[in-house]
Amino acid sequence: MNTLHTIAQLRAAVGRAREEGKRIGLVPTMGNLHAGHVALVEKALQRTDYVVVTIFVNPLQFGPNEDLDSYPRTLSDDQAKLLEAGAHLVFAPSVNEMYPEGMQGHTIVSVPVVSEGLCGASRPGHFNGVSTVVSKLFNIVQPDLAIFGQKDYQQLAVIRKMALDLCLPIQIMGEPTVRAEDGLALSSRNGYLTAAERQVAPRLYQTLRQVAADIQAGRRDFPEVIEQARATLVQVGMRPDYLDLRDANSLQPVDQTTRHMVVLAAAFLGKTRLIDNLCFDLA
Ligand code: PAJ
Repeated sequence: MNTLHTIAQLRAAVGRAREEGKRIGLVPTMGNLHAGHVALVEKALQRTDYVVVTIFVNPLQFGPNEDLDSYPRTLSDDQAKLLEAGAHLVFAPSVNEMYPEGMQGHTIVSVPVVSEGLCGASRPGHFNGVSTVVSKLFNIVQPDLAIFGQKDYQQLAVIRKMALDLCLPIQIMGEPTVRAEDGLALSSRNGYLTAAERQVAPRLYQTLRQVAADIQAGRRDFPEVIEQARATLVQVGMRPDYLDLRDANSLQPVDQTTRHMVVLAAAFLGKTRLIDNLCFDLA
């Protein structure tokens, strides 16, 4: 397993694999890999012959007061995990390699509607940064298949819409969220939690499960269900950013006819912003 740092090297290596008739899989990440990332790599290995994992902490998707500088960068640990998982190639470019002329004035890929609201409302510009860097990675690697986690549900929806609208010849797959035993969704940002906060953090997923259980048990007073859940998060010491019920396919608000729902939340616990979601169906 090679680690390459330039676009030219990457293109040459992937080009050779493609000439050998291999199907190319891509797993984009920002590194600090955990079992959630590894599950994406394993799925890519099942579906394709040559798996490229990208590791790039993309400055374009971080807001001015966000954690770009403190975001964990752990390349050698990540390489060890990817070697063990069986990935074929790691692409870890520098910021200068990806944005040689800087980010000011860079072309932006922007996916309206689905990127608005939820995380898009509290992180202005975030999804433009994500869709821009992912389209660059798509053009650099030119994969047949790209795999993303359902943990970042809105991100997955944004990328699916981008691929559809821009006629990208790339299959997009979403994989279920990998969780710790107590239900907390694995995330590189969990490392910011203090020991005491780590004890409280699973309450986010528990609260989402309660929302799903209440609605599946027949409650249809959605605003009240959501308000109670939000109050629960406050009670346990979180500061909810949003907690919302949406149509799982369109991400639009639900009505009494919606059958496939997703409850999504973001909440601060101390300095850490946690996000999670849960899809569920009504009979
Ligand atoms: P990052 O947060 O490193 O996540 C990389 C991929 O891993 C994403 O598709 C994310 O949804 C998935 N992932 C994270 N935690 C997961 C978990 N617990 N279970 C399953 N999958 C999980 O998301 C990004 O990076 C960036 O925005 C990126 C797409 C790389 C663009 O910069």
